[in-house]
Amino acid sequence: MCGIVGYAGHRRADGVLLQGLKKLEYRGYDSAGIAVCSAGEIFCEKKKGRVGELQAIVEAAALDGHVGIGHTRWATHGAPSDVNSHPHLNGSRRFALVHNGIIENYAALKDALLAKGYRFRSETDSEVLAHMLEACDCESLLETLVQVLAKIQGSYAIAVLDREHPEEIFVARKSSPLVIGLGDGENFIASDIPAVLEYTKNMYILEDGEIASVQAQGVTVYDAKGQTVDKKVYQVHWDATQADKGGFADYMRKEIYEQPNALRKMLDAYCKDDKITLPFQFTRKALQEIKQITIVGCGTASYAGRVGEYILEEITGIPVKVEVGSEYRYKRSILDASNLIIILSQSGETADSLASMREAKARGAKLIGVTNVIGSTLSRELEHVIHTMAGPEIAVASTKAFTSQILALYLIGLFLAESTKTISESQYQAYISKLRGIPEKVEEILRREREIQSIAEEFYAYEDMFFIGRLWDYPIALEGSHKLKEISYIHAEAYEAGELKHGALALVTSETPVICLSSIAAIADKMASNIMEVKARNAQMIHVRSEAVPPAPGCKREFLLPQEEDLFTPILAVVPLQLFSYFTAKYRGCDVDKPRNLAKSVTVE
Ligand code: F6R
Repeated sequence: MCGIVGYAGHRRADGVLLQGLKKLEYRGYDSAGIAVCSAGEIFCEKKKGRVGELQAIVEAAALDGHVGIGHTRWATHGAPSDVNSHPHLNGSRRFALVHNGIIENYAALKDALLAKGYRFRSETDSEVLAHMLEACDCESLLETLVQVLAKIQGSYAIAVLDREHPEEIFVARKSSPLVIGLGDGENFIASDIPAVLEYTKNMYILEDGEIASVQAQGVTVYDAKGQTVDKKVYQVHWDATQADKGGFADYMRKEIYEQPNALRKMLDAYCKDDKITLPFQFTRKALQEIKQITIVGCGTASYAGRVGEYILEEITGIPVKVEVGSEYRYKRSILDASNLIIILSQSGETADSLASMREAKARGAKLIGVTNVIGSTLSRELEHVIHTMAGPEIAVASTKAFTSQILALYLIGLFLAESTKTISESQYQAYISKLRGIPEKVEEILRREREIQSIAEEFYAYEDMFFIGRLWDYPIALEGSHKLKEISYIHAEAYEAGELKHGALALVTSETPVICLSSIAAIADKMASNIMEVKARNAQMIHVRSEAVPPAPGCKREFLLPQEEDLFTPILAVVPLQLFSYFTAKYRGCDVDKPRNLAKSVTVE
């Protein structure tokens, strides 16, 4: 999704901005631009395409400016083009502005400005802001912003340069993340922490409605009415190297390989002395009240939720349902304290998941958040939060966050069952020891990546694939097909294995390889019948099975998962699918870290 950077300090701003934009590339974008105050003017350059193309033009301009803003755009209003790229300028070029988010009432605002004679150059919603700054023009830019932002409906993170005050950048946010990195005689602005981490670990994380003035010598934060706010400095506890590729060819590969340690780290943090301790303040009575659990997430997080549905029902005996954030936020669900809503979000910034969280909170449900980003909006707005501790996930396609979310759901299930005494001590301990064994088994799969690579080598040229599975193998199939679509652009569909014959079997031919997931020994014979059904349609089958599941005759290839009790197979079953997508995408020459059209953190509805 769009990214913002800004700089005020002693270095040349253009270099810092370009560097920051490169760090934000992983979020997904289609164009980039910067604006720098230089020699009493605002220099602005913006282009459709990659930051590398912008860099050549900016470097040729040899700007001697020390204050500036930059942006990577992911198109919403108006196609990717030079003119629709940010920054946007007002007519007199006094203001330059970058914006993330969506201004929902922009059409009415634009009509009013057009009626007053303002001329628009782009098709974007964001450009209205640049003209509104000029139209409002109060005594100070702070006052102007207070007035302009009060008229905006929707979401925004903005950064503004003013030619009349070239030493200063103003920023503001509502429902779109923005951090200010605090340096020594220099300060930085970014949409997320990795973009400024090489300069400082001290940050201000702006809250909704806050406005800030950023200068080389200091930062002042104001509330939405323009009153100064006392802001706490947030210290980042990880360093820039964790956001680097660390010797791997791509972030996605590195992140797949980080999974065993990410899982271990979480187990060490939340499972001490054979007891699961989560940072929750619920009383036992409050936990006993829970009669229904709803897990909410988007994309990959929603598939982790669907795996969690089985895990939590099995461990706690409480009914569980799963909803995607974009739907749940508009449902008129009847909620009270007997409902526990678990919000899963790697970034903690996904607009639909946050809206669902706020809606459920307002309706009186209990809430737990699971996020990978400490300091994210989700982690700040909820009292009960599990941090997945997987370290920064940079590749757009989520891998380590998915397996960490599943682990978090096991932990929540065991925590609930133990706190309400609905599980025997021996069962509880047996489950904990199962969890402790998972990281090593993931390592074992990773050591055998060559087997998966050779399957990808055989199948990468097909244009359609199916994934089938039963029970929790089905959400793993969904996640496998999701990964393949995202990074290799192969059309892939996942089905509950028994459902295929109710329609989609019509599409199965020798040209549609079928990946058959069979990690659950208890229903292996049912899955075997479904495999026979696709075999009878001449499909080429790849069987991903547990040791306890017998081989299926006629499968072209198979991958054997390490032996594991049924309920604990999902984390193991997804890893070969992640590697399969990765190698398939590589064979097809795709950019695995930055797939087309996609963004890492989806901060718009
Ligand atoms: C897929 C992927 C997305 C995200 C989704 C939710 O690989 O990464 O489907 O899972 O956009 O993002 P978070 O978890 O940040 O809320």
